[in-house]
Amino acid sequence: MTTLSVAIPTAASLHVDCMVIGVAKGPGKPVLAPGTAAVGEAFGSTSADEVIGLLGMSGAEGETLKLPAPRGFMADMVLVVGLGDAAGEDGYTSEALRRVAGVAARSLAGTERAALALPAGTAEAAEAVALGGLLGAYAFTAHRAPGTGRAPLGELVILTTEEALADVTAGVRRGTVIGQEVNRARDLVNMPANHLTPETFAATVQAVGEQYGLDVEVLDEKALTEHSYGGILGVGQGSVRPPRLVRIVHTHPEARTTLAYVGKGITYDSGGISLKPVGFNEIMKRDMSGAAAVFAAVVGASRLDLPVNITGWLPLAENMPSGSAMRPGDVLRMYGGKTVEVLNTDAEGRLVLADAMVRASEDGPDAIVDVATLTAAMKMALGHRMFGVMSDDDVFRDQVVAAAGRTGEPAWPMPLPAELRESLTSTVADLANTGERMGGGLVAGLFLQEFAPDGIPWAHIDLAGPAFHEGAPHGYTPKGGTGAAVRTLVQLAEDAASGTLKPSRTRG
Ligand code: BES
Ligand code: MN
Ligand code: ZN
Repeated sequence: MTTLSVAIPTAASLHVDCMVIGVAKGPGKPVLAPGTAAVGEAFGSTSADEVIGLLGMSGAEGETLKLPAPRGFMADMVLVVGLGDAAGEDGYTSEALRRVAGVAARSLAGTERAALALPAGTAEAAEAVALGGLLGAYAFTAHRAPGTGRAPLGELVILTTEEALADVTAGVRRGTVIGQEVNRARDLVNMPANHLTPETFAATVQAVGEQYGLDVEVLDEKALTEHSYGGILGVGQGSVRPPRLVRIVHTHPEARTTLAYVGKGITYDSGGISLKPVGFNEIMKRDMSGAAAVFAAVVGASRLDLPVNITGWLPLAENMPSGSAMRPGDVLRMYGGKTVEVLNTDAEGRLVLADAMVRASEDGPDAIVDVATLTAAMKMALGHRMFGVMSDDDVFRDQVVAAAGRTGEPAWPMPLPAELRESLTSTVADLANTGERMGGGLVAGLFLQEFAPDGIPWAHIDLAGPAFHEGAPHGYTPKGGTGAAVRTLVQLAEDAASGTLKPSRTRG
């Protein structure tokens, strides 16, 4: 795992394999970003930006260039990374810094020690550089022979000045925790379903909970049966790997707000008897991304000692077809007593979430947020990089979207149109698990709304698109699990802690 540190580059003792500098698009030629004075001087009378321009670099975002460093310099190589447009009055945005650090870390695979001379003079900027660096350096190596695949990057040293040292150190600490937690979620998402089962996922939460002093409780299939969790049991009954409901709790003595996070944890979604065809089932190990995000966010909030209480709920099940699987047409009695006709066993996420949401409500939290790879329709609507946020409470929905925006995760508010609710009518049960196909992401949201408690703000995040990245790596996003929504959930916890987030019922 890549480690991060902070250093002041005056010491002659500092030597690294590679020094990373940023260059932006200036008028006519690239301009060096601040933070790179030492590098500029090392190039002597020909200024570094001139050299870089001569080598054909423009400073566009994502561009990279490796140069041998001038003799006597503190690094053997210089890696120049494009920042895009030159900074405005407020400096570079956090997202630009996360991306440039991410691109640098990605191209430094196999390097033992590299230094980042980037414009990171404030806590916020340093956090962005640290986070982007850690996220860019990520590789999933659990199932590769040692020494094969992408070689790890050893250490990233973030350079700063004496005056900024305290701020930068604080920012790097936050960026490190958040980066490690996003990477924890990525590891779980990337873990194949024959390695990550409801049982092993629950055991992992227990082990990590113990490590950080978090309270963890696991309901196994016997306990789930005893307490009538019909949704989780129904989805899990076709698999030889029994379901679990995990509860992980962070509490703080100064907390004034209690949040409940609920994450869809389908360790594999075959579709069940309503089987998915080839082409749609290859990476359905990703279907526990919501649970991974909730788990990592609760651990992150605890490591950051945020003055807020959070209960994370992870309904974990494997959706498989078999002789014991639920059938299309079956009626389930959900936790809390509502009945659901299962018209399509592939609409399983909403069934496990509904049970967990009703259970979460019993503790009387101030707000509930569920996170799920819920519908292909949401992926169609918003694409691969953005998640949709739904709520029957517009104010709360917008607070969740704003939290995502502040932390740099693309999110968009989506509606819950009342007229679509009718399509979920069942002839035999209180409600059917599927309805109108058009607007399928919203129909799923309307289904969940039936299980959202009166008097407690609830929001639903559908990250079917951004949870898993299938294209070429970009910025700080690798191929595979992205850890989407971890940052948003941590930010929301922070907003609750600072009093910015004031959940209050506004719906009629
Ligand atoms: N896990 C899927 C949704 C999904 C699809 C996530 C693609 C990520 C990528 C979910 O359980 C599902 O199968 N949803 C169905 C619902 C339908 C049967 C109403 C869908 O979206 O097709
Ligand atoms: Mn499904
Ligand atoms: Zn699913």
